[in-house]
Amino acid sequence: MPNKEQGASFFFLVTALKYLLSISDLSDSQLKDIVGKTLSAPPKARALDPKKKAIGLIFLEPSTRTRISFERAAQITGRQTIFMEAKGSSVEKGESLTDTLKNLHALNVGTFVIRTPWTGSLNECRDLSLGSIVNAGDGTGEHPTQALLDLCTIVKYAGGGRIEKLKGLKLGIMGDLRRSRVARSWGLLAPRIGIDLTIISPEAWKPLDWQKTPTWTDSKTKVLRDLDVVMALRIQKERMNTLDPNESADFVRSFQITPEELGKKQLLMHPGPVNWGTELSSGFIEDPRSLILRQVEMGLSLRSVVLEALDV
Ligand code: NCD
Repeated sequence: MPNKEQGASFFFLVTALKYLLSISDLSDSQLKDIVGKTLSAPPKARALDPKKKAIGLIFLEPSTRTRISFERAAQITGRQTIFMEAKGSSVEKGESLTDTLKNLHALNVGTFVIRTPWTGSLNECRDLSLGSIVNAGDGTGEHPTQALLDLCTIVKYAGGGRIEKLKGLKLGIMGDLRRSRVARSWGLLAPRIGIDLTIISPEAWKPLDWQKTPTWTDSKTKVLRDLDVVMALRIQKERMNTLDPNESADFVRSFQITPEELGKKQLLMHPGPVNWGTELSSGFIEDPRSLILRQVEMGLSLRSVVLEALDV
């Protein structure tokens, strides 16, 4: 129960959030607060409040989990949503993202959840000061809510609910790191929690421009058994000019993770969508060590907390 001091602001963060474009937008106390609330007190269902400004879900790239969990989270927190994708909108006629935002703002949309193929484009949207913005994935930039929901999943299933227990936890992220916005957000998140991050990929898919580069290896077999948690990523073909079939076959041969390779206590994660038979063997579909659907469940709580924090 909220105490008197916390009162009505119980659901709000220490400092209310306006922009979540990057993990770097969160102070340490906001980060801890988001994780704590997601795990212990995610918002309860509220009646729709038509007086509140709507949440605009602007998805200019395909999405299943992220879009629907934001939409469900908005419903839980009593907000109306409008959904916009590139197809069928004026984006197809060349309208810019900033013009789109200005127009939606004029239609009483106050919070924008945006996925775009253009890395870094949301900084320009922030400069408009039109409302709150959450980055739901910008090209090869960042995907902060995915990394946060992954973190909450690890806290719950590997840390017994306590974030402090993650100090020294060994997390490996394997796959197409160069083009992964999830991995880039993790590159910023892991050192703040004290998680020992190792990244595993072919040399050609090594990240190029991360602020801090964690330990990298192209030898999955050398490191896999030492990890507490391993996260696989799909090959992001849509962000490559071409994918040579030999490159793809080499990746499967040297990097695909199979159930036999993981120990009993090791945990498996993936942000989805999974390409079974490529980064992960289909033997994992029903494997109890897989947290993939637990991540999806956690996404709903985490995004409800984030939307409440923006709801000021
Ligand atoms: C990720 C994304 O879109 O960046 N997926 C997700 O949001 N659940 C990862 C991916 O597309 O591979």
